[in-house]
Amino acid sequence: MTASGTFSWGFEFAEHFDIEALGAIVTKGVTPRPRAGNPQPRTAETPLGMLNSIGLQNVGIERVIEEFAPRWAAWRVPVIVNLAPDRVEDFGTMARMLDGVPGIAALELNISCPNVDTGGMEIGQDPEAAAAATRAAVRNTDLPVIVKLTPNVTDPVPVAKACEEAGAAAICAINTVLGVAIDIERRRPVIPRGRAGLSGPAIKPIALRFVWDVAQAVRIPVIGCGGIRTGEDAVEFLMAGASAVQVGTATFANPRAPLDVLEGLKRWMESHGVQDVREIIGAALPKGEA
Ligand code: FUM
Repeated sequence: MTASGTFSWGFEFAEHFDIEALGAIVTKGVTPRPRAGNPQPRTAETPLGMLNSIGLQNVGIERVIEEFAPRWAAWRVPVIVNLAPDRVEDFGTMARMLDGVPGIAALELNISCPNVDTGGMEIGQDPEAAAAATRAAVRNTDLPVIVKLTPNVTDPVPVAKACEEAGAAAICAINTVLGVAIDIERRRPVIPRGRAGLSGPAIKPIALRFVWDVAQAVRIPVIGCGGIRTGEDAVEFLMAGASAVQVGTATFANPRAPLDVLEGLKRWMESHGVQDVREIIGAALPKGEA
């Protein structure tokens, strides 16, 4: 899959490679109304990664339904819409608006954005709020509901279990890790808000730790996300208990990265005599856990 916020709405990429070869496309976070996003600069390169503070810039749910979904309906690849309202109850309202809309295959609840003043990561740091957001969405749609966790907690298990009990179909781990970069000439943070979200290979071990912990605690599938660039990276996540992976930041340097990861995974499987990806899911977990 592609990771939210790194593949826009998919249209530009569709002109350059066969996006229908992917498992799914996950959209940028969508809010009830259009959002202009945070002040510039919004990104900063870091060793082995990047910081972002986009501030959920997007066109709002109405344009997604009216303009984008009809185009997605013509694609033979599932499109998962990432929902990022700032109030728990709006997850229900937005899920109802998207229920039954052709072109939308599933919802990913963004309770983990670190770059907004209200909602976002605050919801994902509180098991009760996370469960309430999940319940609100699940009760208002027949679409599968995936919940994307924040790594900005000590222990992801209480939140993951609360979302599972509230009806989540899958957990995605993880969103970005809070970080700061300083412009030493101007003596101020590079990103105007100071804190921003770190992604890329720098966070891969953190993402693996979250997948590892969550996969042993829940029965629903876990989707791994964080620093995946190669087929071998994907194998690591699968062995740590993920059933699927998302590729995000790698796409900025190489727009074909999600497809390259898929092809790399297939090559690794062939060279290791693995016929079915399910043979390696959870292979590295302590025996009896997956
Ligand atoms: O700032 C942003 O739009 C980031 C969103 C996210 O990490 O979910």
